[in-house]
Amino acid sequence: MMEDAIESISKPIFANQIEHHPYLQQLEMQKYLEINKIALISYSPLGRGDALSDNIIKQIAESNKISPAQVCLSWLISKNVIPIPKATSLEHLKDNYLAIDAQLTNEEHQQIDKITISKRYVHPPFISPKEWSGN
Ligand SMILES: NC(=O)c1ccc[n+]([C@@H]2O[C@H](COP(=O)([O-])OP(=O)(O)OC[C@H]3O[C@@H](n4cnc5c(N)ncnc54)[C@H](OP(=O)(O)O)[C@@H]3O)[C@@H](O)[C@H]2O)c1
Repeated sequence: MMEDAIESISKPIFANQIEHHPYLQQLEMQKYLEINKIALISYSPLGRGDALSDNIIKQIAESNKISPAQVCLSWLISKNVIPIPKATSLEHLKDNYLAIDAQLTNEEHQQIDKITISKRYVHPPFISPKEWSGN
């Protein structure tokens, strides 16, 4: 679909917004976008809140004295992507903003990279056919 999009328009594509979080790591798309110099915008970056109760995420949060949301967002930011978390309270909004200051170690990033759970939360049929579930 990205190839079709690139071929279909005369202007360069700035970004592709896709579901992207510790439970849907999107390695193939990430690589494709990097090679083609297209930004990746990560929607549902907290896995709709599910990734916040993951044991690995919680453990890293505790040892850095930061929130699980900040762990997820910091991990994404380290991959040069643009996460767009949803928050309905000022407290969550501030918490997410401060992820910019979080400094995880390479080992901690790798621990999240190695999470094997694979879950897709958003299934609009026009962009996510059933057979993609969990990819
Ligand atoms: N392009 C598309 O097709 C598409 C599809 C889906 C989403 N999106 C975009 O992505 C954005 C975010 O995605 P999403 O809402 O699906 O999922 P998300 O951002 O991964 O998760 C939102 C959930 O996490 C909670 N949360 C947020 N910050 C938190 C924090 N610091 N601590 C604890 N809990 C926190 C929220 O609770 P509270 O509400 O209580 O703060 C909410 O329950 C949407 O607003 C939308 O713009 C785009």
